[in-house]
Amino acid sequence: MKILVTGGAGFIGSAFVRMALAKAEPARVVNLDKLTYAGNLENLESVAHYPGHRFVHGDIGDARAVDGILDDEKPDAIVHFAAESHVDRSIFSPSPAFETNLRGTFTLLEAARAHRIPRFIHVSTDEVYGSLRAPIEADEDFPLNPSSPYSASKAGSDLLARSYFTTYGLPVIITRASNNYGPFQFPEKLIPLMISNALERRPLPVYGDGMQVRDWLYVDDHCRALMVMLEQGREGEIYNIGGSRSVPNIEVVQKILHATGAPDTLIEHVEDRPGHDRRYALTSAKLIRETGWEAEMSFEQGLAETIDWYRQHAGWIERVKSGEYLNYYARNYDNREAELRKASSARERTKAQ
Ligand code: NAD
Ligand code: TYD
Repeated sequence: MKILVTGGAGFIGSAFVRMALAKAEPARVVNLDKLTYAGNLENLESVAHYPGHRFVHGDIGDARAVDGILDDEKPDAIVHFAAESHVDRSIFSPSPAFETNLRGTFTLLEAARAHRIPRFIHVSTDEVYGSLRAPIEADEDFPLNPSSPYSASKAGSDLLARSYFTTYGLPVIITRASNNYGPFQFPEKLIPLMISNALERRPLPVYGDGMQVRDWLYVDDHCRALMVMLEQGREGEIYNIGGSRSVPNIEVVQKILHATGAPDTLIEHVEDRPGHDRRYALTSAKLIRETGWEAEMSFEQGLAETIDWYRQHAGWIERVKSGEYLNYYARNYDNREAELRKASSARERTKAQ
């Protein structure tokens, strides 16, 4: 099978590329990535020499580039990961999320339609369902209620992808996964940020009371589910992919502190994220029933392996935490209250108009 992967130099995309190329009958993978701050060719070092892997540096929003790749390669499937994937960045600067997640996805869908691509997997998120009161769990028919510019852009792109199935018969499958964690995750997301700060004995910034709940899914479990979707997913359908392990943030942080031997005094409760979703929860019953897939990694084991990975890859962390990351960190953490005040005074102005 020949697959066009978008965003395959990022966290989940690169795990998928490594998995697809390691199979007994490896796929040919064409990997289109813009190499934003989150894209990193080091994530692909172990497969760089594989003859089945072609890396293309480019933007999914560049219609000519995408058309050229589809003309040359005629892939059997597109697995679409490329996105601006971080809620906090989308709060400070929403425009990249809309450019890539909405306009970029539109460009890709148009090209897929023109080239009659036989399978289009749109990789989405449980964040499109918004914050849910316990004990509710979203199934695939649950209403969309996104809170952040990031999740709204993903919800919009889900609807757009769905419309290409309904209107044009493009064989689209939408997957909605819960929070992923594992090796190679950029240290702006909760788990890698807390691990790398704990290893360096720097403060661990917990938003608000830390009682927000997320469902944690090990990245390889997610990628296995996407492999299953290539073979068994039904066109036009949506599939939730969850880890069946809900944990409040503060508990995640405490586990990381204990595993790294860092003191509890490193925890620092900081100004909450605006529009912060309190709880995500989803059921993967449909995926399990139709395909037999199940999450295999326990949260304890997955977290221990992830911490080990970050311990052993100090050079990787050091390189990604330089340059642009330092500006981001200063804005989101060092100047947090002032920066959030700026963002919310814009909200007050909008309300007043
Ligand atoms: P990531 O931020 O680690 O990687 C995103 C990749 O996309 C990067 O390599 C980046 O260079 C590339 N990219 C960004 N804009 C691009 C563009 N215009 N053209 C081409 N490439 C571009 O993201 P991730 O965490 O690996 O997430 C991948 C996908 O999975 C996203 O669609 C995200 O919404 C979805 N998802 C993520 C999670 C999670 O917990 N991380 C959970 C559910 C769903
Ligand atoms: P994150 O990894 O950004 O994923 P998402 O917001 O997409 O779920 O955050 C996970 C949770 O951790 C979320 O409730 C916000 C919280 N969080 C903190 O408390 N401190 C932090 O520094 C970060 C990055 C996240």
